[in-house]
Amino acid sequence: MPGRVNLIGEHIDYHGLDVLPMALERRVRVRFTPRQDTRIHAVSHNGYGRRAFEWTGGLDRAAEGDWENYLRAAAVTVGARWGLGRGIDAEVDSDLPAAAGLSSSSALYAGFVLALLEANGLQASFEELMEVLPPGEQFVGTRGGGMDHAAVLGAVGGAALRVSFAPVTARAVAVPRDWAFLVAHSLTTAQKSGGAREEYNARRQAGHEALKRLGLPSYKEAREADAGRLDSDLERESFLHVVTERERVEQAVAAMQAGEAETFGALLTASHASLRDRLKVSCAALDGLAEAAAEAGALGARLTGAGFGGCVVALCRRTERAAVRERLKAGFYLGKAEFDEQRHLIDAEPGAGALASLGAIE
Ligand code: GLA
Repeated sequence: MPGRVNLIGEHIDYHGLDVLPMALERRVRVRFTPRQDTRIHAVSHNGYGRRAFEWTGGLDRAAEGDWENYLRAAAVTVGARWGLGRGIDAEVDSDLPAAAGLSSSSALYAGFVLALLEANGLQASFEELMEVLPPGEQFVGTRGGGMDHAAVLGAVGGAALRVSFAPVTARAVAVPRDWAFLVAHSLTTAQKSGGAREEYNARRQAGHEALKRLGLPSYKEAREADAGRLDSDLERESFLHVVTERERVEQAVAAMQAGEAETFGALLTASHASLRDRLKVSCAALDGLAEAAAEAGALGARLTGAGFGGCVVALCRRTERAAVRERLKAGFYLGKAEFDEQRHLIDAEPGAGALASLGAIE
């Protein structure tokens, strides 16, 4: 199950607006054997230990921030839609950094959902999975949208995925061959099933309240000028982020189709500014890294994922990416003892989602 990097369209999927992620070649691997009973056993090869529980109706959350929450969420999701079944013995191995905004959590969760389905002889389409996975992962307490599940399941190799909601569609947008993305870690992390959860939910709530106050049916009908009618700074700024990010996604898709790298890069940088100044989901490390990437020769850079830590995605000309990497090492990362190049600087190539080979998407 691959991770994903969101290229643009941040904090708008849960408002039903289009986003443009791509799957990574790094992944969470779930190897499993079906059990004869209803227990779920999992061992992590990344140092998170062993977990075991009984797959019954009415499972509760485990301790805050514990990876078992994603396993329980998968069991609850499958149980509610397809019924309880036999459990699995699973081994989990990942080369995706955790809590980095690269969807290691959704990859783990979706990987377990598919494992439980397969162990019970069940199959599900992209559309069926997209109905139950986004609400199902909210079991962990973060009220996320459907972008991550769409990307990790439905992405197409060599392409970004334009994901639309209500109804869910996933359309591949080819990444020009001379473009290359670099994902760089800010060395600060954001725990989605822990501390960042309340912050994330508060952003969603503020955007929702703004829409309600304006009496608009959805963000598709919202106009920038409507912001003038909002008195609360929090609601106005959240609203403006969402509406302007919606436009940036449209422009970014057009720029990618036309191969206009400078335009796409400028949109990434503008998205970062909006996330920093309006939605306030950035932090000093992410701001510093996005700036360092631009100084290092990237055409644009922005925080990716929920924010509050994690990674920046930067667009480079393919011929320039290695030089940008070296300049970041000599600049931003210099003297930072926790820096580990293999984990923290990723050449992101657009990979395929878990269902791609099944032809599950249009
Ligand atoms: C998290 C959520 C996604 C999306 C992003 C922000 O990754 O899981 O649904 O909301 O944050 O764009």
